[in-house]
Amino acid sequence: MAMAIAMVPQPLLTLFLFFSLLSIANSSPSQHLQIANAERRIDLTSHIIKVYLTLKVENLGTSPASEVHIAFSPTEVEHLAIVKAAATSGKRKKKTYVPLDVKSAELPDGPNGTKFFSITLLTPLSKGETTTLEVLYILTHSLEPFPVEISQSESQLVYFRDSAILLSPYHVKQQTTFIKTPSTRVESFTVVDPTKRAGTELKYGPYENHPPYSYSPVLIHFENNNAFAVVEELEREIEISHWGSIQVTEQYSLVHAGARHKGVFSRVEYQTKPGGTGVSSFKHLLAKLPPRVHSVYYRDGIGNISSSHLRTDSWKSELEIEPRYPLFGGWKSTFVIGYGLPLQDFLFESPDGRRYLNFTFGCPLVETVVDKLIVKVVLPEGSKDPTVEIPFEVKQHLEIKYSYLDVVGRTVVVLEKRNAVPEHNAPFQVYYSFNPIFMLAEPLMLVSAFFLFFVASVAYLHIDLSIRK
Ligand SMILES: *[C@@H]1O[C@H](CO)[C@@H](O)[C@H](O)[C@H]1NC(C)=O
Ligand SMILES: *[C@@H]1O[C@H](CO)[C@@H](O)[C@H](O)[C@H]1NC(C)=O
Ligand SMILES: *[C@@H]1O[C@H](CO)[C@@H](O)[C@H](O)[C@H]1NC(C)=O
Repeated sequence: MAMAIAMVPQPLLTLFLFFSLLSIANSSPSQHLQIANAERRIDLTSHIIKVYLTLKVENLGTSPASEVHIAFSPTEVEHLAIVKAAATSGKRKKKTYVPLDVKSAELPDGPNGTKFFSITLLTPLSKGETTTLEVLYILTHSLEPFPVEISQSESQLVYFRDSAILLSPYHVKQQTTFIKTPSTRVESFTVVDPTKRAGTELKYGPYENHPPYSYSPVLIHFENNNAFAVVEELEREIEISHWGSIQVTEQYSLVHAGARHKGVFSRVEYQTKPGGTGVSSFKHLLAKLPPRVHSVYYRDGIGNISSSHLRTDSWKSELEIEPRYPLFGGWKSTFVIGYGLPLQDFLFESPDGRRYLNFTFGCPLVETVVDKLIVKVVLPEGSKDPTVEIPFEVKQHLEIKYSYLDVVGRTVVVLEKRNAVPEHNAPFQVYYSFNPIFMLAEPLMLVSAFFLFFVASVAYLHIDLSIRK
């Protein structure tokens, strides 16, 4: 190996080094872009934090730029559930949005472990041009309860940490951050002049001319009594039967991820002073199910729970469920929801003759974070070559499941996603090939089973078991 390098002529080696240096320079975010204006709106009203970022990007360089990078601290990346971006044009009412491709950028980390996502522009931004981007990103598990333990009569307070100044690989000319809290009760907040607070809104900025990677940590301590509903694990099984229905079974292990409950739970106090006690606990859960749902059940380890209400109309079904006890911080509940759906609403044939399931990914419970979501699609027996189409990254693998009357078993497509939020409740498709001859497999099995039974009975009746002769 050393021989080979030694044999390369010197000028060629220099040229090679020069090009590799050039490619390293290219792999860091373009220094010719500038953010003319950044506006950030952070919504802290739920335990799922939504950040809306509007960036006016300007190209000051001479070569066109096709990508814009956005930066996140290592802690943010760990809790990042989704990043979406769109190009906008027009004003107010006439605004148009064109979704853009966003992906985690394969770049060396920036200062202090800063991670990047790259947004691909529709058309490269040429010299002197400006474009406006809207970015939405969602963070989970980013509100830290403090105090960590509260009694039944106390309200829940949490910390939120961020930077008053946008973390960006570019120079930011002008910027403002607005933070919305759920109530007017804000215990404390870091002041980075100018900082203003009015009602449920905190305003940081406007700040002018901050160099790349500027950072100014802020800590906000405020009241948040929303249901911190976290499903540690959800397994949804969607079983397709070509005989006319889809059976869905969902197993939940739910936890209240807010401040831990301390002391004893007084049901009397809870029931006599509604609204005045256990304000951060939750009693009801709402599941949004598809329209035309039937045979709904809801049970836990003890048995069926009757305290659920189903409301349906032609657009949606809403199932309101009530666990056996209200959930306080740190308390858990495991339960199963099951329902049937008409096949024709979800199973279609694609132009190339393959069948496909079009179903909603994500968790049917509203405002819930799912730490680990497993979606299993059980295809009919005899299905082959499944392929999945889904608008975000998931882990996938195949399994085989046997149920009664199965000969070769059913193919199960398993999709797994960590840190799922309501934005992941998007349609996904599973395409597969199916030989209709398999439709006959089960009835044939039944027929042959009956036939064998019949033969056996006839044989039995004809065998003379008597010892007299
Ligand atoms: C990086 O970390 C150092 C030391 O903790 C800190 O002083 C500096 O402000 C940080 N820089 C950024 C960009 O976060
Ligand atoms: C629970 O309800 C389902 C559907 O109504 C029913 O099939 C099942 O037998 C019930 N289970 C118990 C233990 O009552
Ligand atoms: C899947 O269903 C959604 C509505 O639920 C629809 O908007 C979408 O076009 C369907 N996709 C396919 C490929 O059929």
